[in-house]
Amino acid sequence: MKEVLSTLISAKALKERIVQLGKQISDDYKGKEIHLICVLKGGVMFMVDLAKEIDLMVTIDFLAVSSYGNALSSSGIVKIVKDLDESIEGKHVLIVEDIIDSGRTLSYLVQILKERKPESIKICTLLDKPERRLVEVDVDYVGFAIPDKFVLGYGLDYAQKYRNLPYIAVMEETRE
Ligand code: IMP
Ligand code: MG
Repeated sequence: MKEVLSTLISAKALKERIVQLGKQISDDYKGKEIHLICVLKGGVMFMVDLAKEIDLMVTIDFLAVSSYGNALSSSGIVKIVKDLDESIEGKHVLIVEDIIDSGRTLSYLVQILKERKPESIKICTLLDKPERRLVEVDVDYVGFAIPDKFVLGYGLDYAQKYRNLPYIAVMEETRE
């Protein structure tokens, strides 16, 4: 089996869309400070580039989640494996995620972060696979809606690899 990558979203298209999102977010939050929360590891490239396009006072923090064992898709139980460094109480929180698939990760995260009393909480995802949704999530900003295909690059991995690709690719396995 040979792994063949084909480009789904080019580096140029990513850049253009992120500039637009940054402008939209800057308008929507005018006069406010934004606390960006990056969901590691997949969201890291997107958050770094998005933050540079936001023309407001921005602070950043990181958290990492994982499923209990491999039960994420069946049980929907998500565990925080690296928590935030700072309190989010009274802050305008914007969660920055790489991709929303079933919606379980984000729906769980929003639920627990709301208990920490942020002033507001919104979600910005680079990619969305709406066909795959199992749990309802209110997503405020979407970079690109994509078909139900496994994608990688620009933060997204396949077995921890390919995160450094500067574009989003679809992987196809071919016999050769
Ligand atoms: P959800 O809880 O099903 O919405 O899962 C979202 C998480 O699954 C993302 O944060 C990714 O880490 C991972 N994921 C979902 N689809 C893909 C994909 O196509 N490529 C790489 N990771 C993915
Ligand atoms: Mg992720």
